[in-house]
Amino acid sequence: MEVFRTVKEFESATAKKRSEGKSVGLVPTMGALHEGHLSLVERARRENDYVAVSVFVNPTQFNNKEDLRTYPRTEEHDLALLSAAGVDAVFAPSVEEVYPEPDTRVFDLGAVAEVMEGKYRPGHFNGVAQIVSKLFRYANPTRAYFGEKDFQQIAVIRRMAQLEGFDLEIVSCPIKRESDGLALSSRNVRLTAEQRKLAPNIAKILFESCNFAKLHTVAETIDYVVAAINAIDQMRVEYYEIVDGTTMQAVDSWDQSDYIVGCITVYCGEVRLIDNICYKK
Ligand code: PAF
Repeated sequence: MEVFRTVKEFESATAKKRSEGKSVGLVPTMGALHEGHLSLVERARRENDYVAVSVFVNPTQFNNKEDLRTYPRTEEHDLALLSAAGVDAVFAPSVEEVYPEPDTRVFDLGAVAEVMEGKYRPGHFNGVAQIVSKLFRYANPTRAYFGEKDFQQIAVIRRMAQLEGFDLEIVSCPIKRESDGLALSSRNVRLTAEQRKLAPNIAKILFESCNFAKLHTVAETIDYVVAAINAIDQMRVEYYEIVDGTTMQAVDSWDQSDYIVGCITVYCGEVRLIDNICYKK
């Protein structure tokens, strides 16, 4: 496994593979890797000749300085996991390498980016579009892999790729969960032991809401989920929206779309956790 610190070296390694007719799978990450990331790597491994993983905590997508400061950074461990997973290349640059000067690009991400995370984390998706567009340009991947825990992010990246004319397949991969249901996230390590015991209630209530939804309206299902989670000690729902799985726009009834997903953000103490559940596909 080769570890690249500069854009130039990474670009030439991936360009060489493409020029040899090889497919390149890219897995963008911010490090602090867990089984969720490794499931993306495994899929990329199965579907491509050459697999590259980026490990970069992208400052432009953090709208909260404290969140950026405390984001877990575990590079040595990440590299050991990626090497064991059979990755060919890791791109782990410095902030100065990726942003030699400030990135002032503003992407017209449209309606998919205006709701939910877009509303509660202003600038977040523009920062994601900045870094992912740079990574797509450097790696010129055949396919890029993203986890469905960040469900809205995938829709935003599809939109950015369309705007920028990138010719690649964006592959969305199912959420990986702990055995108690908690969606795997690099932020889970910041939960206290007590919060870690409470956090699986988010997934439990989302799963229960699928049965509830069979006999209730969309509005009643939202109220059910929000009330059940807010009743748990240390938990506060920031938003729960039930949306069309492609456009990310809220639906009022179960007949409104063939693809309906509930997206939630919950503060568990100070830790912001996100999750989602598919009601219809
Ligand atoms: O999902 C993430 O970890 C990040 O948002 C991504 C896609 C790696 C961009 O920094």
